[in-house]
Amino acid sequence: MTALQKLYEGKAKILYATADPTILLACYKDDATAFNAQKRGTIAGKGRINCTMSEHLFRKLEAAGVPTHFVDCPAPNEMHVRALTIVPLEVIVRNFAAGSLCKQTGIALGTPLDPPLIEFCYKNDEFGDPLVTEGRIYAMKLATPAQVREITELTQRINEILRDFFQQCDIILVDFKIEFGIDSGGRIVLGDEISPDTCRLWDAKETDPIARVLDKDRFRQDLGNVEGAYQRVLEKVLAN
Ligand code: CDP
Repeated sequence: MTALQKLYEGKAKILYATADPTILLACYKDDATAFNAQKRGTIAGKGRINCTMSEHLFRKLEAAGVPTHFVDCPAPNEMHVRALTIVPLEVIVRNFAAGSLCKQTGIALGTPLDPPLIEFCYKNDEFGDPLVTEGRIYAMKLATPAQVREITELTQRINEILRDFFQQCDIILVDFKIEFGIDSGGRIVLGDEISPDTCRLWDAKETDPIARVLDKDRFRQDLGNVEGAYQRVLEKVLAN
């Protein structure tokens, strides 16, 4: 399927129309941003790595009965996806405390969270993707109570599947962000990507707090060897 006009360029992907109006082409970029795009850079090979890793994880989730927007990958950094109406929420799942949770609450880095914490942020760069309560979601009409219930149930299943899978890879799934959309049949479907850009991943065999980091925190915090960490995650994922 050939790419037609560019529909949207985001921080990590460009979306193109295709001849089939129900299918889009997502091209994953090497560009990296952090802190609401205040920090910018490039991670060599990231587009290919994130696309290939997302493909692998979407296939695993589909096999376990989770609906995703994934169709196929015509190239290592290109993915055909089903067109969705995006629900403007970033769903954050935390198995261990890290990042903004530690900063905002004082919970120590690495504290286990049982049950896992599921949080919603309003997907809006202008407001800096703020954390929202369920009440705010309904007041802003971002989603209905039934949709929030279904998204929460799907998210719990996705977390269980991904956590178990990463454990097999000797990787701890600390936290991650996912997004959902609604397809032409009104079904809630997992969208976006699942990659070291959107997950915190720690090497389970490494206790050093810097060496164990295999995700975008290496870029955010200038920890070095960002490409090497992304490549290692991909190799572990593809081997399992
Ligand atoms: O990363 P930061 O500390 O700003 O935010 P967080 O709320 O602690 O992030 C939780 C998880 O969601 C991390 O794995 C982030 O990489 C991911 N996330 C993301 O992919 N995109 C966002 N806009 C915000 C968080």
